[in-house]
Amino acid sequence: MGNTQNLDLVQAVAKFSKYCDEIESLYEKSPLFIEKKGSSTCILNGGATSALQRLISVEVRKQAGIFFTSTDLADRVAKQLSPLLRMGVDLFDPACGAGNLLIACTRYLPSGESFDDTVRIWSELIRGYDLFPEFIRAARLRLAIAAANRHPKEQINLENMKTERLFEKLKTGDVFHAGETNPSTCVVVNPPFGYMPAPKDCSWGNGRIQIAGWFVERLLRMANEGQHLVAILPDVLNSGTRYKLWRDTVCSLVSDIAVEQAGRFDPDTDVDVVIVHLIVGRGKDGSVEWPDNLPQTKGLTRKVSDCFESHVGAVVPHRDPNEGESYPYIHARTALAWQILENISERRRSIRRVFKPPFVVVHRTSSPSDKYRCVGSIVNESEEVAVENHLIVLLPKDGSLESCKQLLESLKHTETNDWLNHRIRCRHLTIPALCDLPYYE
Ligand SMILES: C[S@@+](CC[C@H](N)C(=O)[O-])C[C@H]1O[C@@H](n2cnc3c(N)ncnc32)[C@H](O)[C@@H]1O
Repeated sequence: MGNTQNLDLVQAVAKFSKYCDEIESLYEKSPLFIEKKGSSTCILNGGATSALQRLISVEVRKQAGIFFTSTDLADRVAKQLSPLLRMGVDLFDPACGAGNLLIACTRYLPSGESFDDTVRIWSELIRGYDLFPEFIRAARLRLAIAAANRHPKEQINLENMKTERLFEKLKTGDVFHAGETNPSTCVVVNPPFGYMPAPKDCSWGNGRIQIAGWFVERLLRMANEGQHLVAILPDVLNSGTRYKLWRDTVCSLVSDIAVEQAGRFDPDTDVDVVIVHLIVGRGKDGSVEWPDNLPQTKGLTRKVSDCFESHVGAVVPHRDPNEGESYPYIHARTALAWQILENISERRRSIRRVFKPPFVVVHRTSSPSDKYRCVGSIVNESEEVAVENHLIVLLPKDGSLESCKQLLESLKHTETNDWLNHRIRCRHLTIPALCDLPYYE
């Protein structure tokens, strides 16, 4: 990111200070608003996200990976740490934004006799970082309001809420360049999503990599043994074939891992996420495995790869020259769901690999919200067939049409959908996922 762009970003995010002014003036007008009209609920529940959407354009939010966690998702993260938080352990959010994850965690923190007391206790326990001072200001104010909520009968002067001494361990800066260590007992994090060029010392990826993966690896390398780190991560890190090496790297840095599917990040953000709970522990190479969280397959022993060979269709229609022999040709638009395709009239020339029917094709693009994750058709032609690369070809090892029919039935099973939704939530089916798919005969 160039300096001018940086300045633009800083100026764009500076608009968020308007929201902090709004909170303060609301409080000044009506210090007891906490008890009225549920307005504090809004400040603590969804208010910062609405302000973010109102004050900062979606382009800027995407550029900087600024997406605040919804209350529901933040509560799920906090719940994972509730037994520790109740004991009054220290807590760190290295990318805290306006404090949504920290606020959710305060629900389990012990409180004091008075507002001052509670704020003193929480200020001691809570640490946080964010690149933007406006977010740190909002996080401090909102945490103070959460503390005030514990003491609804007290009249608390706004000046007491604004003082620098409140939550002084929330700091503006880049967590990785602040000379910080990561000694906290608990860490919660919703790192920026999006892509970055892989740094030279990245051992698990090259080209463009997920920022969130890099963020988590760095946090783990800074962490003390035994730390609990709960992260909201894009599902592709959990299920993408490309990130297997990242998962192996994480496994080598922890003594325990649990993964919980959390569905879409929020109704406005079409990204599936998982909540990953890690306990830091080194020197146990090989003993920790990334959990697959796959549903039980009720004693089934056969997988699709036992009975079928899988290949990605070879024709890249807009790139391949129109040369070579002429073959019947199928592509995503002609591979009609659950049909047997015979006497295919469309043809094209191809120098790529062609496939001998009968075989099954499935669409590579697939979404967890589709009725069927894996939509198939059977190709039953006398000639070899050219197949577009948006389709995956499954060739029966016994060469029979009967096996193809059985596979189609298996793909329609609810269990197939459930299994695939657990295994792979991103928008493309992969060959390894299809190979491992249980085969319901
Ligand atoms: C996805 S938002 C999450 C904010 C908040 N934790 C939440 O869950 O609502 C990520 C935040 O990380 C901040 N951030 C990104 N890189 C950072 C870094 N290197 N150090 C500190 N903060 C960072 C961004 O400014 C942004 O506010």
